[in-house]
Amino acid sequence: MIKEIKNICCIGAGYVGGPTMAVIADKCPKINFTVIDINEEKIRLWNSKDLSKLPVFEPGLDLVIKRCRGRNLFFSNEMKKNIASADIIFISVNTPTKEKGIGAGKASDLKYVESCARDVARYSTNHTIVVEKSTLPVRTAEVIKTILAEAQDSLKDNSKKTTFEVLSNPEFLSEGTAIKDLNEPDRVLIGGENEEAINILSSLYRNWVPKEKIILTNVWSSELAKLTANAFLAQRISSINSIAAICEATGADVREVSRAIGTDTRIGSKFLDSGPGFGGSCFKKDILNLVYLADYFGLPEVGAFWEEVVKINEWNQKRIPKLITKKLLGTISGKRIAVLGFAFKANTNDTRESAAIQICKDLIEEGAILQIQDPKVRPKQISIDLNMEPYELKDNVSNHHNQKSNWIFKEELYDSFSNTDAVVILTEWEDYNQIEWDKVSKVMRRPAWVFDTRNIINREKILKAGLKIWRIGDGLN
Ligand code: NAD
Ligand code: UGA
Repeated sequence: MIKEIKNICCIGAGYVGGPTMAVIADKCPKINFTVIDINEEKIRLWNSKDLSKLPVFEPGLDLVIKRCRGRNLFFSNEMKKNIASADIIFISVNTPTKEKGIGAGKASDLKYVESCARDVARYSTNHTIVVEKSTLPVRTAEVIKTILAEAQDSLKDNSKKTTFEVLSNPEFLSEGTAIKDLNEPDRVLIGGENEEAINILSSLYRNWVPKEKIILTNVWSSELAKLTANAFLAQRISSINSIAAICEATGADVREVSRAIGTDTRIGSKFLDSGPGFGGSCFKKDILNLVYLADYFGLPEVGAFWEEVVKINEWNQKRIPKLITKKLLGTISGKRIAVLGFAFKANTNDTRESAAIQICKDLIEEGAILQIQDPKVRPKQISIDLNMEPYELKDNVSNHHNQKSNWIFKEELYDSFSNTDAVVILTEWEDYNQIEWDKVSKVMRRPAWVFDTRNIINREKILKAGLKIWRIGDGLN
C-alpha cells in the first residue's frame, strides 16, 4: 500500500526516459524524479551546464530541463539508491530487435528489460509500482512479474520482502515534437489489473491530462495497442510511398492524391507525406516484433501482411539512389553530391534507421563523393552509421579515390554545394526551405540536379535558377 508518491525513478535516460520524466517532473513539482542509466557519458551530458550539450535534441526540452533539473529532476548512474527509494519505477530502456538466437531479426531482445527487472527485484525496499514504458511484446509484463516474484520468493528473511504491481503505460511521443506530445497527449494508455496501482499512475497524469484522455485497459491490450499504433502509422507511409511511385510513372502528383484522400474523414490527412522511407528506432522493430508474434501464434498470413510494410519501405529507400544515378547520365562515379539532412526526420538529432544511411551508402558504393550537411547530427554519428570516416579526418589528405571514405561533413549549409552535380534533400529541415537557389546554382556543375525526397522545395524556383528537379511522387519529373 502506497500512501503518498514521493520518489519516482526511471531506468533508461534515452529519447523516451529523458524527455518523458522531464515533462512529468515539470507537471508534478512535489515529486522527486531521478532518471538512471548505465551509460555514464549519457548521464554526464544530461547534467551538462551547457544545455546545447544534452544528449537528446528536442525543441523546448532545454527549457524544461532548465526549470526542473536540480529542483525535482535528477540524472544519475546510481542504480541501487534510486531504485531503493522509488515508489514508482518506469522501465524505459531500449528494446532492439534480436540479432541472434530464436526469433533473430524479428523478435524483441528483452535482455535490457530483464536486467532492469532483476535490479528492481534486488534493490527495491518498498511496495513498488513497476511501469513498462518501453515498447514490449505482448505478455512481457508476465516476464517482469515472474522475475520480481521469484526474486522475492528466494529471500529467506521475510521482513525484507517487498511487493510489486506491474503496469503497462506505453509512450506515444514522436521525436521532434516530444515536448508538445507529452504536454498535450492524444491519450495516455494504462494497462493493469490492480485498481490502486492504476489510480496512482493515472493521478500522476491527471495533473495535466484531462481524465477522458486517460484510457484504462488490461495489460496485454495495452502492450498490443502500442505495437498496433506504430504498425498502422508505418503502414500509411508505405502505402503513400507506393502510390508516389505510381504517380511518378503515370504523371499524377502524390501531393494532390494525399490532399484528395486526406479530406475523407475516415482516412484523415495526417501521415500522408511521401518521403525517402520511414526511419526511426521503432517502426521497423515494432512491426517485425508484430510479425514475430503472428508467426509464433501460427498466423503466418498475418505476419506476411505486416512484413510487406517493411519490405516496401526498404524498396523505397533503395530506389532513390538508383534513380539519382540514372538522372545523372547513368554514372555518379567521382561526382560530388550535396546531401541535405541525415536525421530520420526534422527537429531531432536521432539517425537510427534513417533512410539517409542506406541512401548514402548506396551513393558511395556507386562512387559518388558526398558533402553531407545536417543542422543537428554530428559527423561522428554519421561515421558510425556509414561505418566509414570522412576523408578530411584522414591526415588531411583528401583521398577522394578511396571508396571507403567518400564523404565529408559540411558544417555550413552554403558550403555544401560547391562543384556538386546534384543536391539530394533527405530530411525536411526548415533551413532547407529557405535555400536561395540562385546562389546555389552558381557554384554547381552542369547539368545540375535537385532531388527532393521530402517534397519541400518549390519547383518553379528551382527551374528559374537554371537547375533540374526531381521530386518524390511528382509525375512531372
Ligand atoms: P534509447 O536507446 O535512446 O535509451 C535507452 C537507454 O536505456 C540507454 O541510454 C541505455 O543505456 C539504457 N539502458 C539499457 N539497459 C539499461 C539498464 N539495465 N539499466 C539502466 N539503463 C539501461 O531508447 P529510446 O529511444 O528511449 O527507447 C526506449 C523504449 O521506448 C524502447 O522500447 C522504444 O521502443 C520505446 N519508444 C521509443 C520512442 C522514441 O521516440 N524513441 C517513442 C515511444 C516508445
Ligand atoms: C513514431 C510514432 O509517430 C510515435 O507515436 C511513437 O511513439 C514512436 O514512433 C515510437 O514508438 O518510437 P517517430 O518515429 O519519433 O514516432 O516519428 P514519426 O513522426 O512517426 O516519423 C517516423 C518516420 O516516418 C520518419 O522517418 C518520418 O520522416 C516518416 N514520415 C512520417 C513520413 O515519411 N511521412 C509522414 O507522413 C510521416
